[in-house]
Amino acid sequence: MTSAAISEETLLPYEWPGSYFIGEEEIDAVTKVLLARSPYRFYGHDLQHYADQVEDFYRERLGRKNAVLVNSGTGALSVAIAAADVGPGDEVLMPGYLWVACLSAVVRAGGIPRLVEIDDTFTMDPDDLERKISPRTKAVLLIHMSGACGNVEKITEICKRHNVLLIEDTAQANGASFHGKPLGSFGDMAIFSFQYNKNATAGEGGLVVSDSEDLGNRAWAYHDVGYTRNAKGRVDPGSPVQSWGQCTHMSEVSAAMLLQQVKKLELITGTMRRHNQQLYAGLGQIPGAKPRRILDPAGDSGPFVLITWPTAEICENIVNMTRAAGVRPGPDGIGNIRMTDWGMHIYYNNVSLLEKHGVNSAGRPWSDPLNEWAKDIDYHKGLLPQMDDLIERTCLITVSPQLTPELCDRIIEIYKDCAAKLGLS
Ligand SMILES: Cc1ncc(COP(=O)(O)O)c(C=O)c1O
Repeated sequence: MTSAAISEETLLPYEWPGSYFIGEEEIDAVTKVLLARSPYRFYGHDLQHYADQVEDFYRERLGRKNAVLVNSGTGALSVAIAAADVGPGDEVLMPGYLWVACLSAVVRAGGIPRLVEIDDTFTMDPDDLERKISPRTKAVLLIHMSGACGNVEKITEICKRHNVLLIEDTAQANGASFHGKPLGSFGDMAIFSFQYNKNATAGEGGLVVSDSEDLGNRAWAYHDVGYTRNAKGRVDPGSPVQSWGQCTHMSEVSAAMLLQQVKKLELITGTMRRHNQQLYAGLGQIPGAKPRRILDPAGDSGPFVLITWPTAEICENIVNMTRAAGVRPGPDGIGNIRMTDWGMHIYYNNVSLLEKHGVNSAGRPWSDPLNEWAKDIDYHKGLLPQMDDLIERTCLITVSPQLTPELCDRIIEIYKDCAAKLGLS
């Protein structure tokens, strides 16, 4: 485990969760794959079966029947959306607080993304989902943003009642749970990311899980060459799915590293959760400061703290003042920011969406005749007034495993001082 030096002026360490815990185990496992000269998961001189082991780990952890590793969370979303049979004529509902890949998976499949409000959990607002769900809705994407769960109970119930497929995006909340049940075990399907800044990392990587045989076969085929494989790992010409795949397998090198990381998942998330709970408890004492509503604090995977302030002006001032006082990971770091500055996580920062760019010069999916019904749907700031208001008043603090109780206390103290200067005392 490395321990980067913490500058005196910068109180937010900049290590990412999974990578901070890279140690001898990862080095040994990757070396084993290289010494075996077997970096491909389906055959090799001396195959180590690391990809199989990671899939087994998640099947068991989540109580799922099917798991397939892919090479990114973006790839996982594409596979899940393809397995859900989304195409022209369909809409997929998702919250406006998201990542660009959530939108692009739907757009590239030829479907139309429709945006739903978030509430003070910073995940999909079930009431707005209820208002917007329609006969066009092929799937709902519940994104467990910023480390903690969305309203899985209500949203599962709404999807069941409307007979609509629920896909959980657990990219930012690997290791999180809701009342003891791991996220990723609620929807018809769920995806994960193992990219560098995630709770467990292989540099890049993703996973799709499901229970039904049909979704499992389809997810496998789309992540592969469009067909499932036989017991010997060969592409099966008699596959129950015969379609077109994207060949987004994970290599054994990545899987070897990933298996070591996922074995440390409780350690990684437990470390962050302790800091996160200390920060929430301390910052929550400041008059006017409202911590994110977390439906199950014990199940928060810990990498973020979100605090909402009475006005946008107070939020801007407090972020500027606390950053100037050292609550930042270096001068340009994004560890303590207003949420409006959170880039492509905010729907109205995505130009391709606002300008409805197509995936090709024909302008698909917007120009597709089967999407004629969607011609009046547009995307602009103001589309989700509840979310727009919330994020203008909210600051986001990244929680590195490298924090310490002393650093957390110092951050709380600085926030309290700055709040008092702004009349919040
Ligand atoms: C909510 C969400 N979904 C999907 C992804 C895509 O994952 P990846 O970066 O592995 O492609 C991310 C990545 O940050 C994400 O935050």
